[in-house]
Amino acid sequence: MQIIMDRPIVFITRLLPQPVMAAIPRHYQILAEPVDRPATAEELRRGFAQADAVICTLADRIDASLLAHATTLKIIANYAVGYNNIDLPAAAERGIIVTNTPDVLTDATADLTWALLLAVARRVTEGDAWVRTGTWTGWTPTQMLGADITGKTLGIIGMGRIGQAVAQRAAGFRMSVHYASRHPVVHPPDHSWTWQPLETVLTHSDFLSLHVPLTDTTHHLIGQRELALMKPTAFLINTSRGPVIDETALLSALEAHTIAGAGLDVYEHEPTIAPALSSLPNVVLLPHLGSATLETRVRMGLICLDNIAAVLEGRSAPTRVN
Ligand code: DGY
Repeated sequence: MQIIMDRPIVFITRLLPQPVMAAIPRHYQILAEPVDRPATAEELRRGFAQADAVICTLADRIDASLLAHATTLKIIANYAVGYNNIDLPAAAERGIIVTNTPDVLTDATADLTWALLLAVARRVTEGDAWVRTGTWTGWTPTQMLGADITGKTLGIIGMGRIGQAVAQRAAGFRMSVHYASRHPVVHPPDHSWTWQPLETVLTHSDFLSLHVPLTDTTHHLIGQRELALMKPTAFLINTSRGPVIDETALLSALEAHTIAGAGLDVYEHEPTIAPALSSLPNVVLLPHLGSATLETRVRMGLICLDNIAAVLEGRSAPTRVN
């Protein structure tokens, strides 16, 4: 690409939905046509070395050694609400602003959490797979019995925006909500929400859903000890980040039936899935679809573009995280 001196250079690490690509201001120079595969280490280095602004995804690891190449970079707009893929102190040291995409993916992620919860409790994917084999011979009183959802206890770990959106949806199922988070919710929309210590939430929940960011503190927050506190009839749902769960401990608990099942959208070593996990019938596995609706992914892209415009024009970034 021939660089035109007075036009800002934007590096997009991966192809974004078409409406987002179409909304990129014409006066930006896009560094290399984005393609739908992960950028290589060399492509990232080249992009970070030349760009004024970067849009990256949660699969791109933005560490200090990559940032050392970023001499002209002013903003990294992460196309995600979570930003554990970026070394924030290293970015701050270089004066690079980092932004994320909060709010716009809250409902999509909460909806998907419920899709997983319903699917694993009512054996939806198992049933679907069976019918497709053509071997189903009709209704029987004992066939594929799942677990009730209505009236049960929903436990939520991490009561931020997404945790609260998941809790609000529980009202339709007349569930009681117990949650563990650093602080109680100040004005809960539902007075049945109960703030409790983590251990109490673990022991009381019929469904336990994780909504914490991945940090040093939340890495392996759910391990052998925590899984052992859960009821043998309980289901674990994770739409946050894979490493929040010790996946080896989870596998043992599922195999030994010390918990009833799990619905997972994220994995400890994404995109690699432990082979033993995919052979278990009591799990539902999705490929990190939390925010994957067209409307949501477009809104996420537009926030990235708003942040870039603000920083390049000398205004403050609407959703800055560092
Ligand atoms: C996020 O934004 O952090 C989500 O995991 C993306 O789906």
